[in-house]
Amino acid sequence: MLEQKLRSVVRDIPDFPTPGVVFKDITPILKDAGLCMAIVDDLVERLKGIDIDVIAGVESRGFLFGLMLATRLGIPFVPIRKQGRLPYKTIAESYKLEYGQATIEMHEDAIDPGARVLVHDDLLATGGTVVASAKLIEKLGGVVVGFSFIISLDFLKGEGRLTRFSDNIISLVR
Ligand code: PRP
Ligand code: ADE
Ligand code: MG
Repeated sequence: MLEQKLRSVVRDIPDFPTPGVVFKDITPILKDAGLCMAIVDDLVERLKGIDIDVIAGVESRGFLFGLMLATRLGIPFVPIRKQGRLPYKTIAESYKLEYGQATIEMHEDAIDPGARVLVHDDLLATGGTVVASAKLIEKLGGVVVGFSFIISLDFLKGEGRLTRFSDNIISLVR
């Protein structure tokens, strides 16, 4: 079963990047091409019935499966990047996450008004990152139709912050 496989492969790194945080290291997943394909297959299956025009993935780990998923669905991928990386005109949003704070940006022409956008990231912790992402998408006139993650850390209660945007919250392992 995919969930069991993910539990066994994802590596816990205590006290990274700051004391007290148990970091979920997904790099072992990326070494297993069959597992990566199974993850995309499972995400596609769970997203059936949701009308999605665009996938927005958050730098950097949200790029990994975000682009694979968009390519499989045959729809555009839009990068949400950390501050100062996008070359064209941008809008920005600052946020707190489990172990710090950051600012993310999108190109101001990244989303067509009314586009139905799925936000993808590797992991949901406090929800700060994807809440900021959803705010950027809405500022550009997009409609957030769901969120997808490989991992959710339920004890940090991030999911409760997402339901004001969409109830479609998909996570392969909790
Ligand atoms: C990690 C992870 C998520 C975010 C989750 O990204 O990839 O994007 O934190 O935390 P939150 O739910 O508390 O916001 P990070 O900012 O460490 O950067 P990276 O993806 O470039 O490694
Ligand atoms: N992003 C936020 N919290 C994290 C954690 N515990 N492991 C990996 N990525 C994270
Ligand atoms: Mg990230």
